[in-house]
Amino acid sequence: MAKRILVLGGDGFCGWPTALRLSAQGYQVDIVDNLSRRNIDNELCCESLTPIRSISRRLQTWQQVSGNDIGYYHINIATQPEALLQCLRDIRPDAIVHFAEQRAAPYSMKSSWHKRYTVDNNVSGSNNLLAAVVESGLDIHIVHLGTMGVYGYGRVDGAVIPEGYLPVQIETEAGWQQTDILHPADPGSLYHTTKTIDQLLFYFYNKNDNLRITDLHQGVVWGTQTPETARHDDLINRFDYDGDYGTVLNRFLMQAAIGHPLTIYGSGGQTRAFIHLRDTVRCIQLAIENPPQTGARVDIFNQVTETWTVAELAQKVAAIAGAEIRHYQNPRKEAAHNRLEVERGKFQQLGLNPTTLDAGLLEEVVDIARRFRERCDPARILPSSRWTKDQQLDSEGTAETAPAASVAS
Ligand SMILES: NC(=O)c1ccc[n+]([C@@H]2O[C@H](COP(=O)([O-])OP(=O)(O)OC[C@H]3O[C@@H](n4cnc5c(N)ncnc54)[C@H](O)[C@@H]3O)[C@@H](O)[C@H]2O)c1
Repeated sequence: MAKRILVLGGDGFCGWPTALRLSAQGYQVDIVDNLSRRNIDNELCCESLTPIRSISRRLQTWQQVSGNDIGYYHINIATQPEALLQCLRDIRPDAIVHFAEQRAAPYSMKSSWHKRYTVDNNVSGSNNLLAAVVESGLDIHIVHLGTMGVYGYGRVDGAVIPEGYLPVQIETEAGWQQTDILHPADPGSLYHTTKTIDQLLFYFYNKNDNLRITDLHQGVVWGTQTPETARHDDLINRFDYDGDYGTVLNRFLMQAAIGHPLTIYGSGGQTRAFIHLRDTVRCIQLAIENPPQTGARVDIFNQVTETWTVAELAQKVAAIAGAEIRHYQNPRKEAAHNRLEVERGKFQQLGLNPTTLDAGLLEEVVDIARRFRERCDPARILPSSRWTKDQQLDSEGTAETAPAASVAS
């Protein structure tokens, strides 16, 4: 069984609670993070709604409350491949969880600089990791956080999205042959494009070097706290609410808490897949404990527990928090409506008991948002990125070219 785990991106929204969960479960955990997400807060003049402590204070407090040490390495995995390799040689991890990427689709579309940064950071980081594992000669299981967005949303209406591989029939001279291919990629932003490139890198290193890899195609994560981050205020997790990094449900809950209208972009008919942060960390532990055999293909899971349209989410939040709903022009280039049926049996077979939106945790997030609402800068709520050059931002920061039919104001 894996004993020593290296968490790349372990200072981030998903990485921090994962590191604590694994440490609490008896794993020896080390974190690599270059703190670039904290620097992006500075760049965007925005902070996590919850006050997050320095990485050294976080680790010190965790040591005090749990008695467990977590190691920390300040390495940029995209630009310091030698340091990453040395780190692997020093730690000799059994498994690596790879969260260390620029993860906001709007940020990846902000400007030509942001497009280059996202591609350089994410693609080089993943390739450097894979090359370093090969060079180290160590048998390390890599668990990567991908996204549901690699599949696209609604390429074939009504089709169920499988867990990574699509069975196809190919006509040959000998007749029709059955095979599995990676589900065709259909990214909706430069960020999502990097995740589709990651998939090909995993495919190649798995085929060429027999690397053992699990790729988790995760839905939009909601919630803030896990039992471990709730143990002390110094351990609190980050809560992004801004137009670039705030993911839709947390953004709505925050907006409700400060009396801002819930911001639906376009019609609200976009269906997305969701998962609570507590299930994210459980899934990652399950993935670590159930690694693929050497020689097996890349194992792909859909890390998703439910699907909702954006309008349905807004109605749920409005019902519990009494908020107003307002439609804005959509800064993204996407279909106004889509259906999304997702295969998600693999984690359930491994024992995941999903936390659903109706389970009372919405109130918990609203409570966090209310507790820290004084820290909110309302000027950061609306989107400031746009998908195409011909979209103009109006004075409220919303974009002006969504098809009129998709906007019900
Ligand atoms: N949050 C979500 O809703 C969500 C949904 C689907 C997939 N994911 C994926 O999960 C992963 C983690 O997401 P998150 O929400 O925790 O993001 P995050 O931005 O909060 O965390 C990412 C962490 O990685 C670090 N990092 C980035 N580039 C690095 C580099 N080159 N070297 C070292 N460290 C680096 C950042 O400083 C940050 O602490 C991402 O890969 C993301 O694509 C997240």
